[in-house]
Amino acid sequence: MTRRRGRGRSGWKFATRAVHVGEEPNLGPGGSGDVAVPIHLSSTFARRRVTEPTGGFEYSRTSNPTRRALEEKLASLEGARHGLAFSSGMAAETTLCLSLLEKGDHVIASDDLYGGTRRLFSQTLAKFGIEFSFVDARRPSLVSAAVRGNTRMIWLESPTNPLMRLCDINEIARVAKQRSVVTVVDNTFASPCFQSPLGLGTDVVVHSSTKYLSGHSDVVGGALMLSDERLFERVKFNQNAAGAVPSPFDCFLIARGIKTLSLRMERHASNAQRIAEFLSNHKKVDGVNYPGLKDFPQHTLARRQMSGFGGMLSFQLKGDASAARKVLERTKVFSLAESLGGVESLIEHPATMTHASVPPDQRAKLGITDTLIRISAGIEDPDDLLADLRQALS
Ligand SMILES: Cc1ncc(COP(=O)(O)O)c(C=O)c1O
Repeated sequence: MTRRRGRGRSGWKFATRAVHVGEEPNLGPGGSGDVAVPIHLSSTFARRRVTEPTGGFEYSRTSNPTRRALEEKLASLEGARHGLAFSSGMAAETTLCLSLLEKGDHVIASDDLYGGTRRLFSQTLAKFGIEFSFVDARRPSLVSAAVRGNTRMIWLESPTNPLMRLCDINEIARVAKQRSVVTVVDNTFASPCFQSPLGLGTDVVVHSSTKYLSGHSDVVGGALMLSDERLFERVKFNQNAAGAVPSPFDCFLIARGIKTLSLRMERHASNAQRIAEFLSNHKKVDGVNYPGLKDFPQHTLARRQMSGFGGMLSFQLKGDASAARKVLERTKVFSLAESLGGVESLIEHPATMTHASVPPDQRAKLGITDTLIRISAGIEDPDDLLADLRQALS
């Protein structure tokens, strides 16, 4: 077989890996030379002998050629040895926790988490005797102080959803290593284009590939990237045992989206920067959360651990909930919708939409007020986005 598999791959830069890894054309005998990975719909694979699968595949829940291509690409994005694809971000999270935790274990999680992750922890996993402490991970000393004898995992998001808070990933990973605790980073917001948690010393990266990885708001998926063989074997076992895997068509869509990830991220970030600066100077706005703003409290940390500031931001509107509702319902280019990371700009109200499952007292404590608005900057012309916000705020 004269496949290009692996050629120069380790020296390739991010944008090249995003296009090519996992999809090297097969120009060998019988190979068709596809430059885009085919969608292998077969649920089962024939073999010549009872003892081994002839083509390396047995049954598509266990492994499938389209999924394997995506998983190779996913691993390469995060500089990981292994990538595993799931049917949603929550499926990835559930399988990871199922694989690494058991009754009596303790997990430290940052207190400003995606609402669905918090719900999984507090309402589902807690029922199985797993304990959770939610701490302000902006202060590594609080994370360190929360570690107990039974702590098995530290779960971080940086930037967080929706307040864009950062944590010092490298410092927390260092503390965790000393105590033999596994660190997990949900890297959905930054994307692997702008932040590499494994390079900062963590063990596992989680993505909702529904967001920037696929990038077009047309597929739900999740991913885990990791290099430790022992952890990988445990999670891979449960990927098959629990079976929350994506369809071959979904794998194809996510792999296709990833090919343009670096181009899209540049535009998401430059649009978000323009919007953040515009909102910062608007008289009806009481504060903007965006790591790329020079006066963002953790701007220095953002510069240190991210190579771009991402496409997500949130802001506090002056006034009350009805003023916020008017702005949210008046935009024309921005769609009022949950989710993020697609080519189209979205606007939403965390308190009643994405974070409605977070108890009101917790929302109040965190600063997810009724006048907080979250934006996912798309890749449209920035002038149209600013004009839309200007009219919605007027
Ligand atoms: C930061 C983050 N992590 C995880 C998830 C869950 O992913 P999914 O919706 O693909 O299950 C989301 C969904 O919005 C998210 O924003």
